[in-house]
Amino acid sequence: MYKSLRKFIFLFSPETCHRAVVRLLKISRFIPFAGCVMRLLFSYKNKSLEREVLGIKFRNPVGLAAGFDKNAEVVNQLANLGFGFVEIGSVTPLPQPGNPQPRVFRLPQDNAIINRMGINNIGAKAVAEKLRRTRRHHRIPVGGNISKNTATFNVQSPSDYERSFAMLYDHVDYFAVNVSCPNVTGLTQLQDSEVLEQIIDRLINVRHYRDDYKPILLKLSPDLTLEHIDEVVDLARSKGIDGIVAVNTTTSRDGLQTAPAEVEAIGNGGLSGAPLAQKAIERVRYIHEKTQGRLPIIGVGGIMTPDDAVNMLKAGASLIQVYTGFIYNGPGFAKQILKKLVSG
Ligand SMILES: Cc1cc2nc3c(=O)[nH]c(=O)nc-3n(C[C@H](O)[C@H](O)[C@H](O)COP(=O)(O)O)c2cc1C
Repeated sequence: MYKSLRKFIFLFSPETCHRAVVRLLKISRFIPFAGCVMRLLFSYKNKSLEREVLGIKFRNPVGLAAGFDKNAEVVNQLANLGFGFVEIGSVTPLPQPGNPQPRVFRLPQDNAIINRMGINNIGAKAVAEKLRRTRRHHRIPVGGNISKNTATFNVQSPSDYERSFAMLYDHVDYFAVNVSCPNVTGLTQLQDSEVLEQIIDRLINVRHYRDDYKPILLKLSPDLTLEHIDEVVDLARSKGIDGIVAVNTTTSRDGLQTAPAEVEAIGNGGLSGAPLAQKAIERVRYIHEKTQGRLPIIGVGGIMTPDDAVNMLKAGASLIQVYTGFIYNGPGFAKQILKKLVSG
């Protein structure tokens, strides 16, 4: 049913659709029984889906990846669509508008998206305030994905991460440190520098003085070489990082079916969806084997079918996230995956 509706939805620009969906989800809060109907249609419960990862209880392992609910506006409505957790953000210390539009492009032939949003968000203070008002009603764990402001130089970025972290600390269940977004100049270089060590030190220091422990995960790029992954994962483990989110979008355009001229006309941006699947699974498997399964991994990238989700979990992910698969498969996608996980 969504497949036929999708033809119509895809007539509109991706950002127009995204805004409309978020608005509809927000409105659904005020429509009597809308939440119940959504849960009836889209959520799926089974004891075998429950997980405890990072010391947090999840009712199922399928989350919505960072970038969809950047400003933490519709966490509970996404829970109604069956998701077991939502990662909000990326959030930066100060609000920022992101890059000029158009900045999101569909590649339907490839079941993919290219985006260069540039981390548009309302800023950590406003997001924290939204979460403060809604948190006690949240039915699922919320991850806080944090980043630096575009205007902040990399050398000064530790204080940006620290500020977002401190502002969101009381309002999320875990943190994902985004050092892998290809749409903010120089951000991915943070994975490759001493600055990463400083970022981690600052966050762990803030956490040290808090009563409750919030797990910190690093979100990595699929474009890192295996040697780079070794370095980052070794650093993360030696510093007490709790887990890895693998992976963010890729700058690669290899193997696309879409005409090269069309891809070139789109320009810069991170590619997500089906073309990312293999790389994402390989990265997850590599990190899982390297750490002998001792470092929890949230596997994300190219999960477009329930079988992709099964493969990501088999590769060693403790939890998974989807984004592009949700756009292409619609609101029933989490349920499709969950049914497959139960039926085996
Ligand atoms: C439009 C769009 C915006 C995104 N924004 C963010 C973001 O703000 N922070 C982040 O860490 N990842 C962001 N991502 C990356 C996703 O969280 C995910 O890592 C990536 O899309 C791969 O998963 P997928 O193939 O299921 O889409 C974004 C992805 C898309 C498509």
